[in-house]
Amino acid sequence: MASTTPDASQNQESTKNSIIFRSVKTLAESPELTSVPSSYTFATNPDDELVTDPDDDDPIPVIDYSLLFTGTPDQRAKTIHDLGRACEEWGFFMVINHSVPKSLMEKMVDQVFAFFNLKEEDKQEYAGNKNVTDPIRYGTSFNASMDRVKFWRDFIKIIVHPEFHSPDKPPAFRDTCEEYCRKTRELGRELLKGISESLGLEADYIDRTMNLDHGLQIIAANLYSPCPQPDLAMGMPPHSDHGLLNLLIQNGVCGLQVLHNKKWINVSSAPNRFLVLVSDHLEILSNGKYKSVVHRAVVSNKATRISLATVIAPSLDTVVEPASELTDNQTNPAAYVGMKHKDYMELQRTNHLYGKSVLNQVKI
Ligand code: OGA
Ligand code: NI
Repeated sequence: MASTTPDASQNQESTKNSIIFRSVKTLAESPELTSVPSSYTFATNPDDELVTDPDDDDPIPVIDYSLLFTGTPDQRAKTIHDLGRACEEWGFFMVINHSVPKSLMEKMVDQVFAFFNLKEEDKQEYAGNKNVTDPIRYGTSFNASMDRVKFWRDFIKIIVHPEFHSPDKPPAFRDTCEEYCRKTRELGRELLKGISESLGLEADYIDRTMNLDHGLQIIAANLYSPCPQPDLAMGMPPHSDHGLLNLLIQNGVCGLQVLHNKKWINVSSAPNRFLVLVSDHLEILSNGKYKSVVHRAVVSNKATRISLATVIAPSLDTVVEPASELTDNQTNPAAYVGMKHKDYMELQRTNHLYGKSVLNQVKI
């Protein structure tokens, strides 16, 4: 219906054309930028600055996913054993020979790039300091309402399951994202079956108890623009993720570091691999046998880095607590209190998140 009075669509237009925050991308592209503004300057603690490449004697675990399906019984059993060890000793592993086509991974990264290359006004339509359950959030830094120092990162977070959401631009984003999310959800659920078995539980234990048919799946696409003084700024501070697993891919530029035996390990990745991070709810469910990995992202002055995290998580109303099959009152009492997933996310949003600060709040 044609109308001459201001209506909802016009109001929407005016929101659409206002810039709510300055993105790192805008800052990084301003011609006068030669140093990192003080609001982004990070004082690092030299004591925890032991950064190294992986040791040949203790390499980052690599899981051949195909062996879970087509391997001999021995190969399958070994793969499940290796999965368990990786979750226990690293909280981190790489997956090769998986079920997500390489072309789809590349297409998805291209679409993420295309999203960040939209006009700032178009992206800021999704901006705002909103709730964790809002379907699409475009933002900057890490936990913007809490960060004392800002992080050199822009992001878009999209809830893609149980209900699928997507920005409408760029045009091919929606279809690519839908397919990518379906494939990664399948990969995540299959890995969790192997992980259930590695804990001595039935294969579908995690899927069932975490209600993954209605599980929360979020993608977080991160943009790390080139930084003039990369030693002074951080892309993301040390933290662990909520959810069960985080399946991460990137555009060929490294920047992820994982904490292993008190050292920061640089993660370099070949294309076509998934970097899998064990997340807080798997630590809780396994009663601490498996550890969520503390990780961070560093920035570079040369290249733009894109990473795309896919969080596979319990349904929002699932109360996550240690599996009763893995606890007993005498020798192995529950080490975490149960909490609804949604409340856990809210705790994460409203707290200063550093290392495992949120997980520590549910530790007994
Ligand atoms: C995340 C994350 C690391 C990276 O999105 O939770 O930790 O390398 N990303 O971008
Ligand atoms: Ni993370």
